Order: sequence, then C-alpha cells, then structure tokens
Amino acid sequence: MKKIHIKTYGCQMNVYDSERMAEAMAPEGYAQTDDAAAADVVILNTCHIREKAAEKVYSDIGRLRELRQERRLAGGKDLLIGVGGCVAQAEGKEMLRRAPAVDLVFGPQTYHRLPAMVRAALTERQTAGQARVIDTDFPAEDKFDHLPAARTHGAAAAFLTIQEGCDKFCTFCVVPYTRGAEVSRPAAKIIAEAERLIGQGVVEITLLGQNVNAYHGLGEDGASWGLARLIRRLAAIPGLARLRYTTSHPRDMDDDLIAAHGELDSLMPYLHLPVQSGSDRILSAMNRGHDAADYRRLVERLRRARPDLAFSSDFIVGFPGESEADFAATLALAREIGYAQAYSFKYSARPGTPAAEMESQVAEEVKAERLALLQAEIAASQWRFNQASVGRRMAVLLERPGRTEGQLVGRSPYMQAAHVDAGPAAADLIGRIADVEIISAGPHSVAARLGDDGRRTAA
Ligand code: 5AD
Ligand code: SF4
Repeated sequence: MKKIHIKTYGCQMNVYDSERMAEAMAPEGYAQTDDAAAADVVILNTCHIREKAAEKVYSDIGRLRELRQERRLAGGKDLLIGVGGCVAQAEGKEMLRRAPAVDLVFGPQTYHRLPAMVRAALTERQTAGQARVIDTDFPAEDKFDHLPAARTHGAAAAFLTIQEGCDKFCTFCVVPYTRGAEVSRPAAKIIAEAERLIGQGVVEITLLGQNVNAYHGLGEDGASWGLARLIRRLAAIPGLARLRYTTSHPRDMDDDLIAAHGELDSLMPYLHLPVQSGSDRILSAMNRGHDAADYRRLVERLRRARPDLAFSSDFIVGFPGESEADFAATLALAREIGYAQAYSFKYSARPGTPAAEMESQVAEEVKAERLALLQAEIAASQWRFNQASVGRRMAVLLERPGRTEGQLVGRSPYMQAAHVDAGPAAADLIGRIADVEIISAGPHSVAARLGDDGRRTAA
C-alpha cells in the first residue's frame, strides 16, 4: 500500500482539513503514516498567520528535498512533495519558483481535488522528472460535497467545520485574503455530519470556523440560522454529550448565543474569545470594531448567563504604535478577566495587510519583553484557575492512556488537561465521560481520581 504523510501547521481548521485530505486519499490506496521517511507523498498543510510559521515551511521543504535525494541515491522510492493550506494559497506560483523541489501547490478551498492533483503530479514526475501542479482557486463548488463522509479513528472528540473565511479585516490579519470571504455551510449538512460522527462513537464535537459565531447558514426551515440556533439543534441529537465552538469574535456574540450558554448543559462552559489588546487606541487601529469596555461588558453578560464559564483569548503584543501605556492596559485586562488559558503572540508584519504599512513598528526586543511579561501573567492566571478546581467534581472526557499504568488523560469541561487515576479498568474507559474529583493542580493540568461512586460514567 502507498503511504501519505500529512504535516499540519497552525489552527484547528487545518487539523480538520488534514483529516479530510487523508480521507480523500484513502480510496486512492494511500494509508496515512506519521513518518515522512516512509511516505510516497508528503503534504505540508501550512499556516500563513505569522512569519515564523510561514518560514518554517521552507525549512521543512529543504529537509524533504534532501530525503528525496538520499532515497534516489540509495535506489529507493520517489517522493512527491505537496504544499497545501494558507501559505500555498498566499504564495501560489511564487512558491514553485522559490522552492523548486515542490511538485504540487494547492489552497484550502481545492483540496477535494487532491486525488486528481496527486495523479497528475505523479505522471508529470515520471515524464518530466519534476511536477508543477498548482490549484489555488476559490471554486464555485462546495468542497465538502466532494469529500468522503467524515470519519474518526476511534477518538471520542471530533472537529466539524461549519464556517470558513472572514470579512472582518483586522488590520494585522491575512485570513480574509488566504481563506477568503465568509461562507457558512447549510445546517442540514452539518447536522448530517454530526449524526455520522455520533454514530461512530463521538461524544464531543467542536464546531470550527475562522469566525464561527458569525455563522449564518441556511437552516432546515429555509430561514437563515445563527450559531445559537444551530447549536440548539445539534444539542438535541441524542448521544452528543458535549459541544464547543471556536474561534469567536466579540462583535458576533449575540443575545441568543449568550442565552444558550445558560440553557444548554451540553454546551461546555469554556469560550475562546480573543481580545488581542486591552488598549482602545490599539483596538481601533486593529479595526476590531469594539473597545475594551465592550469586551468587559460582554464577559460580564456571559458570566451572568453561565457563572462558571471559563475564558481563553488571543493577544498580540507590539502592534504598530503600541506604547507602554497601551501594553499596560493589555496586562491589566488579562489580569482582570482571569483567563483559564490564553495564547499570545508578537505582532508579525504580514505582506498585504494594512498594519504592515503602518509607521512606528515596534522594535523586536520590546515585543519580546512585553510577550514575556504577558505570558507570565497568563501562566499565573492559568495556574490560579487550575488550583481553584481542586476539590471540585467534574465530568472528564477520557481520551488516551497517560504515562503511567492505569492513568488516563482527558479534558475537563473547562478544557483543562486532566490526568486521571483510573486503576485496572483504565483501558475500558477511553472514549467515555467519567465523573472525577480533582485532587491537585499544576500550571498546565490537573490530577483527578474517579468519583466516589466508583465508575459511574456517561455516554
Ligand atoms: N501577528 C501576530 N499574531 C497574529 N494573529 C493573527 N495575525 C497575526 C499577526 N500578523 C494572531 C491573533 C489571532 C490568532 C489566530 O493569531 O491573535 O487571534
Ligand atoms: Fe483575522 Fe480578525 Fe478575521 Fe479573526 S476576525 S480571522 S483576526 S481578520
């Protein structure tokens, strides 16, 4: 059997896309491998969001080129190198020029054509020694209609893309250019995909979209449905114990969605709600469409609807023009909200975005200093959040074996990694939701034991 290795960079949407690519290639006789050295085809599913992620692709291509040369010298099998995802979309032909070792370049909207592209590239390699296949269209057809039904590989948690693209045009961000305009999938297709996943043993679904709460898909009744409506419908499917969604924009948290957090047990009490900055000046320069007070009010309203709701966020430090006072406002906001977790990044100037052209770019050392301060604040906040869980009972979805005998690793409702001492029955509990008691906390995880009433499990 032929083998395909897919390396995923960046966000969960790419993780989902990589899974779909593997499924599209299975009928062509390709089995997935974790080992690039054993593969006939390697696909890099790339991320363009920051320069570092984008540049890493080129060093990985260099390594693959060497691997191919070594194999050739040793008389081994050939290797087809494909690059997909957002760097491929952004650079297109330029990538083939800059990295001649690449045979195949395709964007996030055309990977349903991957089997045909790979066939074409293989033929070209055989005849010309090198392929130059490129497809970075935004096709009219819906790629999801041309992909095999979603499958999982025994995992009890799955991603489901419901929306792609973004019309917000934050001034730092490439997404509106690489992923294109906002498009929502029709509810009926999402429901069918969810039902299939649940039929395969999935108990937790994370709905994905670059701007997931801007969802406005065609509903089953012919009306346009917002995210809350879709979530209420999905929550009614028997067997779906947990629902999450990511990533949200503060401007799209409407009343119905806030209310849903208070009403639906299966909607997990954890929300990734990026704020980027705590300074009004910077938020405005970022074109975020809200100020810090709007964000604080929103968090308050959400907490009123669901008092135990935990928050996570994304932050950018060193956006052009960010002063000490602006950064202090970001630190203060982070401290005040008390995030359960958060991601923070140094601003990275991206070609073609308005912020890249702004004057007063912040020096690299200043960015590094601010990032360290913010990350220390976030780490402290995360640890406090974990410590506050000690003594609490909660339902943990047990996902995989831990490091020691009888230990399992799972996720709490608040997305904490939970190490659960499950005893001799551990293996039988994978994929189940168990009632546990949190007994201790670390900076990045909590430790738990099965609840006193023994192995009472749901799902
Ligand atoms: N520089 C740094 N971080 C960025 N992000 C998006 N674009 C940039 C950029 N140019 C961050 C934002 C976003 C997350 C996915 O990546 O915080 O929420
Ligand atoms: Fe990028 Fe802003 Fe759209 Fe998020 S909302 S994808 S940060 S442009």
